[in-house]
Amino acid sequence: MHQHITIKDQQLFIEGCNALTLAKTYKTPLYVLSETTIREKFREIRTQFLERHPNTIAAYASKAFLTTAFVKLVAQEGFYMDVVSGGELFTALNAQFPMERVIFHGNNKSKEELEMAVVNKVGRIVVDNTTELEILASIAEQHQTQMNILFRITPGVSSSTHDYIATGKKDSKFGISLDDFVIMPAIEDAIKAPFLNFLGFHFHVGSQIFDHNSHVMATQIALDLIKRVKTTYNYDITELNTGGGFGIKYTDTCTPQTIGYFTDAIVDTIDQYCEANHLVRPRICIEPGRFIVGEAGTTLYTIGAVKEIKDLKTYVAVDGGMTDNIRPALYQAKYSALLANRPLEETAGEVTLCGKCCESGDLLVEHLPLPKAVAGDVVAVFSTGAYNYSMASHYNKHVIPAVVLVSGEKAYEIVERETYADLIKHDVVPPHLK
Ligand code: LLP
Repeated sequence: MHQHITIKDQQLFIEGCNALTLAKTYKTPLYVLSETTIREKFREIRTQFLERHPNTIAAYASKAFLTTAFVKLVAQEGFYMDVVSGGELFTALNAQFPMERVIFHGNNKSKEELEMAVVNKVGRIVVDNTTELEILASIAEQHQTQMNILFRITPGVSSSTHDYIATGKKDSKFGISLDDFVIMPAIEDAIKAPFLNFLGFHFHVGSQIFDHNSHVMATQIALDLIKRVKTTYNYDITELNTGGGFGIKYTDTCTPQTIGYFTDAIVDTIDQYCEANHLVRPRICIEPGRFIVGEAGTTLYTIGAVKEIKDLKTYVAVDGGMTDNIRPALYQAKYSALLANRPLEETAGEVTLCGKCCESGDLLVEHLPLPKAVAGDVVAVFSTGAYNYSMASHYNKHVIPAVVLVSGEKAYEIVERETYADLIKHDVVPPHLK
């Protein structure tokens, strides 16, 4: 069973809230987030990483899930926040998140976005390429504002995950290549730029990873570079950001590790290398997204049509689909699910849980063991907290569902369900069509 999901009197509970009551009150599809689960993840990072090792920081990768209330929660937990766009930065700014704790990523930040970051004095900009370096140096100078920067490097490491979410390979669109003729002049420029304070390097090897090898290998590559910077420029790198990517449980076949499993290996690698090579040990930063919010999420749907194709398969259709969870269609991601109104009833065989979008690939869970489902049953899909709401779309003019944060027996709506009017509010009709 997933964290803080229980069954009482044949009904499914998320923390102290009955899933059926939530579905009735807020309608379906509905994203439900367990605040206790999220807080436990923050605590795990604090106890196994921040408090265990000196000179460390942890950022929440807001692309996984971001709303105003969530920014407040991250701020309250004392974490840093990774943003990757003007929109994410705006959400943080608008919720009064401390700008010195923002880390600004992205492989193609626009001039406007960089200016926004400089004007608002974000704590760190992770520069992805040499074009960005030039533009940022000039904006910082124009505004006479000193900016802390890191370079995102492409460590050339593969990780065992889906190709679309492996980001550290040599041919990746992300980061500065480690070819000498690219990285060394870029470092020299960064050191010399009067308004840039060059802190160090960042890498992100990929996402939903269960094995610490790719993080350790990339760390070793970054350390070799840190040593070269010391020997070539006599410059001490003071920060190394090792990204996120720590895997979570979606189904019983996942084997998630503790955060300490990853961070102990990363920190040990750095400590040993720095000691052996007489280097200043840089501040170590991690930036998990999915790890913090993924398992905390459950999506509730109401079942409508059930289509049995004799000797072939049974489709059970729900009132949402790829518009609220694109991950199965995009990455063949696997999920587990239960009927919220009859969670303990014996299964009647495997079904294909599908959505209501006009796409054959709009499948949420294939080969899902389920009791005989009928229209009106409520189904709960687990571990939907990360990259579901944040990747939701309006395809087929579906409205984006509400998000409810539950804490014990309390439920708080943190995002209202969109209305049909929201769907057309930016439409403009030119005069000749009026
Ligand atoms: N830092 C950087 C620079 C990243 O690019 C990412 C994710 C993270 C941190 C956080 O990774 P996490 O800890 O959440 O794995 N939409 C995909 C995942 C894309 C991740 C992109 N970058 C999915 O649904 O699986």
